[in-house]
Amino acid sequence: MGVRFESESLSDLNRNGCPICPGIRTKGCTLLYLETPTNPTTKIIDIARLSKVAHAQGVVVVVDNTAATPINQNPLQLGADVVVHSATKFLGGHADALGGVACGPKHLIDQVHHYREIHGAVLDPMSAYLLLRGMKTLDLRVKRQNESALRIAQFLESHPAVERVFYPGLESHAGHAIARQQMRGFGGVLSFLLKENSLDAVGRFIPRLRFAHAAGNLGAVETIVASPATSSHVECTPEERARLGIPEGLIRYSTGIEDVEDLIEDVASALKGF
Ligand SMILES: Cc1ncc(COP(=O)(O)O)c(C=O)c1O
Repeated sequence: MGVRFESESLSDLNRNGCPICPGIRTKGCTLLYLETPTNPTTKIIDIARLSKVAHAQGVVVVVDNTAATPINQNPLQLGADVVVHSATKFLGGHADALGGVACGPKHLIDQVHHYREIHGAVLDPMSAYLLLRGMKTLDLRVKRQNESALRIAQFLESHPAVERVFYPGLESHAGHAIARQQMRGFGGVLSFLLKENSLDAVGRFIPRLRFAHAAGNLGAVETIVASPATSSHVECTPEERARLGIPEGLIRYSTGIEDVEDLIEDVASALKGF
């Protein structure tokens, strides 16, 4: 398709300034594509600040808002030009339909629509129905997932077998201050590392969970757990994962709408013996 891209971690923007932004337009960049919070380590990017820098150079800003959902974060109000979602995740919310959403001003979305007409990525009626039906409960689901994920993250952070928890709602998270500015809630997805940071430990931990389903998806009413090293980022080499800040023993936990006390008890019981 003739698209060239460069990827950069922009999460330490506040401390070090944007490493790629100065002169991006003169380097041929016409579009800045951000994801915040990121999958799977929940890094936070300052949407307003980056949008300002990009717009000053005539660069279009697209934000993948899948993990946050429109309930928690509205990138267009923060200055982005286009917001995209994998509707497969929280929007549908039931892990039973595949779809995507792009929102923004007509002159930009017309280009997406034209491209889609030519290439034929049209949503089938059953998926459209499931997504519309799922979105009726988006607000209820996401608010519950926000609350439960924070409780689980706090529990994990205080557990002696856990090395580190990645969740923007925790004060220990490097992006917490920016997340507080640009998000109304911190989302249902968190990730964590056991002290025994290895794929072997993850392989023993995940089957001990009774509520969480082991699967590659996220954002559903059921709690879903995954090992990024063997699922979403399996196509990266261990070195590439290390460069992206994804430890081999990372566990991603997408909080469902089950009773949070059950979920905490489940995680506590699975951690016994670690
Ligand atoms: C943040 C984010 N954006 C986009 C996608 C792609 O979603 P889909 O499977 O609906 O194409 C994913 C999938 O994991 C995701 O996590």
